Amino acid sequence: MMFRCTIVCGRIARMTKKLILCFSAALGLALMADELHEPMEKVGKANGALRKGAGAGDMKVVSENAAILAEVFPTTIAAWEKRKMADAVQGTKDATAAALAVKKAADANDADGLRAALGTLGGTCKSCHTAHREDLGDKKYKIK
Ligand code: HEC
Repeated sequence: MMFRCTIVCGRIARMTKKLILCFSAALGLALMADELHEPMEKVGKANGALRKGAGAGDMKVVSENAAILAEVFPTTIAAWEKRKMADAVQGTKDATAAALAVKKAADANDADGLRAALGTLGGTCKSCHTAHREDLGDKKYKIK
């Protein structure tokens, strides 16, 4: 009886250990996949407000939201460096520069410059999404 319990208990302990390992691995993966989700949501929101402001000719709104973009993009560089995705590191730097150019044009009340800078900015979103964003459907994405 005692003997049997030791075997069974040992088995349960090993199983529990395996389960814990399994859970932490899954959690780690989920966290890794998520590290761009939050900043990108901020980027999406600021970009939406920025485009709306540009449509309404409200340079202050454009400038404020371009500043948010220029602040959020650099926080994602480490995630790309970790994956050794040099093109995405560069894409992030290009996006940051484009956001700063948008801010500069808005601050100078330069409508033509703003139009050009907005085009460049939009291009940086698009090229990175094409290369590195996998559409999982249902408005969910992950890094590819
Ligand atoms: C260097 C790469 C890169 C650049 C530049 C980039 N994105 Fe993303 N974006 C991603 C990746 C990868 C995802 C998917 C990440 C995830 O959701 O886990 C994503 C997801 C998103 C999402 C979905 C957020 C969500 O709910 O998960 C939005 C919105 C978004 N990006 C907007 C933008 C806009 C707007 C720009 C440009 C102003 C931009 N992105 C520039 C890589 C990039």
